[in-house]
Amino acid sequence: MTFPLPVLSLGARNVCELLFIFGLITYLNFVSVPNDYHKSKVLVPEVEPQTNFNHVVFGLLGSEKALHDRKHYIESWWRPNVTRGVFYLDKAPTGDLMPWSDASPPFRVSDDLTKFLQETKARRPKNIRMVHGIMELVRDMRDANLRWVVMGDDDSIFFVENIIDILGGFDHRKYYYIGGRSEFIMANYWYSFNQGFGGAGFILSYPLAKALASDMENCLRRYAQFFTSDTMTMSCIADIGVNLSPHKGFHQIDLHGDLSGFLSSHPKSPLLSLHHLGTVKPIFPGMDTHQSIRHLMEAATADQSRMLQQTICYHRQSNWSLSISWGYSAHIYEQIMPRSHLQRPLETFKPWKARPSRPLYMFDTRLLSNNSCYEPHVFFFEKVDKVSMGIFTTYSRARTRGLPPCSLTSQYKPDLISQITVVSPPTKRKEKDRCECCDVVGVGGTGTSVEVKLRECGLNEVIA
Ligand SMILES: *[C@@H]1O[C@H](CO)[C@@H](O)[C@H](O)[C@H]1NC(C)=O
Ligand SMILES: *[C@@H]1O[C@H](CO)[C@@H](O)[C@H](O)[C@H]1NC(C)=O
Ligand SMILES: *[C@@H]1O[C@H](CO)[C@@H](O)[C@H](O)[C@H]1NC(C)=O
Repeated sequence: MTFPLPVLSLGARNVCELLFIFGLITYLNFVSVPNDYHKSKVLVPEVEPQTNFNHVVFGLLGSEKALHDRKHYIESWWRPNVTRGVFYLDKAPTGDLMPWSDASPPFRVSDDLTKFLQETKARRPKNIRMVHGIMELVRDMRDANLRWVVMGDDDSIFFVENIIDILGGFDHRKYYYIGGRSEFIMANYWYSFNQGFGGAGFILSYPLAKALASDMENCLRRYAQFFTSDTMTMSCIADIGVNLSPHKGFHQIDLHGDLSGFLSSHPKSPLLSLHHLGTVKPIFPGMDTHQSIRHLMEAATADQSRMLQQTICYHRQSNWSLSISWGYSAHIYEQIMPRSHLQRPLETFKPWKARPSRPLYMFDTRLLSNNSCYEPHVFFFEKVDKVSMGIFTTYSRARTRGLPPCSLTSQYKPDLISQITVVSPPTKRKEKDRCECCDVVGVGGTGTSVEVKLRECGLNEVIA
């Protein structure tokens, strides 16, 4: 006699309820099954462990030539002996890549597909190699415990703890294709609104990855003439009967220029990936790309769950609005502005390709202006200190704003502020249906710093 396992919707069910259900199942098994049956059968159904690093495998694809400059991307997020995965290269590494670093995932050389490419006259051989990589990963990492496969490029940066946490909320026994669209509206139009853009990374449940792998050769034959590997992957997955589950934490970054506006108004969703950081301006002033990424990761190491999460609060006496993007930036505005407005990224950036007209982006934006009442004073993440009572992140002013004050009569002087300290709880924040709230303290007439304390919002608290 068997009982179906209750589906664990993780995080949603309370432990007592589960214990009660399992207790009941055990008891029912015990009273209703003949005695000799017990000897050969484990009676207590095991609670499936929470999804952890062992259940997730990363498949990364890159070229040997580009890797000499790109290795630092992968090593910024890879956790040796913790994350599992394979880095597929087009040919064996040479020169300064050898001996192969412990700080990188183990590499393999991709399968030789010459014959297949000749036979199919594939439009872009590189794409075939990328999609075929999914099959190679499933083949090379056979393991009964696997639940998820994450595919990415050599310049994708993953926030691995957040990935593990969000995957805990999905049923890994089902078919899932989780990814992100392009920020640039035309890229979705040109390729597909239904595809996960591969630079941002996409995630397949292991059953789906296996199904895709077993049909790989046919799938590649069907779509050999497609222009991008992401469109091929999407099409093969669609043929299995599965479509994209978009997640707002993936970032293809089909943008150019200054990303600060984008990274300062992240959607209320855990940050999962960033891509193309080598094709935009370094994200922190006064640093190069490599240093900026390392700097961002210092914050991510202290608390990945709050990374780039936007928290907004007001200081009523001064009419200031403060917007914090945890681990990245802090803004002071000299008037009270609703959260719905501050959630729109300031359009500091440009689209991937110049366009004659809007729409350009898949999200709302705010235009830059020279109006003192609308332009923020901008501070960037400088350092993080983790102590038992909380995490202190400090944000420093990058430059003077260069505009007169919004109110000429106000006693409060935001131009004097050079530093903002944000205090957040020492514990990571589980994905919640609601953002955090904050309180501003220490705003004085001539003070040069203010402090912002993050906390859970009150039950009926309205941020206005
Ligand atoms: C990873 O594990 C191996 C074997 O246990 C060990 O030799 C190596 O030092 C570890 N590497 C790191 C970076 O912890
Ligand atoms: C804050 O805004 C209110 C309403 O616009 C105004 O009456 C008040 O003087 C402002 N206070 C300061 C300190 O600017
Ligand atoms: C703001 O003013 C400066 C100097 O006059 C000008 O160069 C810049 O384009 C203006 N910015 C906007 C968004 O209007």
